[in-house]
Amino acid sequence: MKQKVLVATVKPFHSDAVSGIRDICAEAGYELVLLESYADQAEIEAAVVDADALIIRSDKVTPEVLAAADRLKIVVRAGAGYDNVDLDAATAKGIVVMNTPGQNANAVAELALGMMVYLARNGYNGKSGTELRGKTLGIHAFGNVGRDVARIAGGFGMDVFAFDPFVEDEAIRAEGVTPLGSVEELYSQCQYVSLHIPANEKTRGSINRDLLARMPEGAVLVNTARKEVICEASLLEIFRDRPDFKYISDVAPDCKDEIAAEFAGRFFFTPKKMGAQTTEANINAGLAAIRQIIAFFEKGDRSFQVNR
Ligand code: 3PG
Repeated sequence: MKQKVLVATVKPFHSDAVSGIRDICAEAGYELVLLESYADQAEIEAAVVDADALIIRSDKVTPEVLAAADRLKIVVRAGAGYDNVDLDAATAKGIVVMNTPGQNANAVAELALGMMVYLARNGYNGKSGTELRGKTLGIHAFGNVGRDVARIAGGFGMDVFAFDPFVEDEAIRAEGVTPLGSVEELYSQCQYVSLHIPANEKTRGSINRDLLARMPEGAVLVNTARKEVICEASLLEIFRDRPDFKYISDVAPDCKDEIAAEFAGRFFFTPKKMGAQTTEANINAGLAAIRQIIAFFEKGDRSFQVNR
């Protein structure tokens, strides 16, 4: 039977990614339906009603979306983080949820370094800035994005450290990065810290005052992960306590107005989540998503399933 694939993206893929998905669907004999730039959850709830498969980005797959989806068998989050999908509700309905790990990692890593240069050069305002070479960088979680950040930072001549309890020290060393034994050590040792942890029950609000206060003089926190991992009360306290502290983030914190009012020149926030917003990342993640869907329907392939 012809499978119906819904691509629902508030933040649309690049058109080349969409045409690639369209071609792969056509070749497989699948039907493609596009829902782009929608403004209301009611639109995805209506569109998903007769879909067999759903491709999303940071789009919210709530219990309501899943309840409306009578035929849905698989959701693929084209990207890494799947905190936007209600896994329990999907599992309860027997719906497989996958991500596409690594497919957009380089784009996110390039943005992290790009924001670091932008801040170090005072937003290119004509005043003397600083360089990244020779500075310490701590990678908090050494997954696909963390690895790419380490690789690019190495090119800048940064001294790169990492903490990740789920990755062997040897694997970290193999990338030319020094593993550290605790998260406290990472923050104590590194002037720049780049976050690559997922947002989950354990990590939400976990980047707190205790950790941030440990950072050396000239501290810069770089967040291309999720705003929810930051304890925003701690963030404001550190901004107030330490005039040297700076924060750059792909997507502004909820307290952005307070930061903007009090701490000019010490922050940079993208207006919307931009890390994975490149042609290449969209093509990589979008095509991986549709290929995973076809492999699932045609061969029962459940690689990359996250709700086992
Ligand atoms: C991810 O988790 O892969 C990134 O945050 C990218 O999210 P996006 O697809 O919404 O840009």
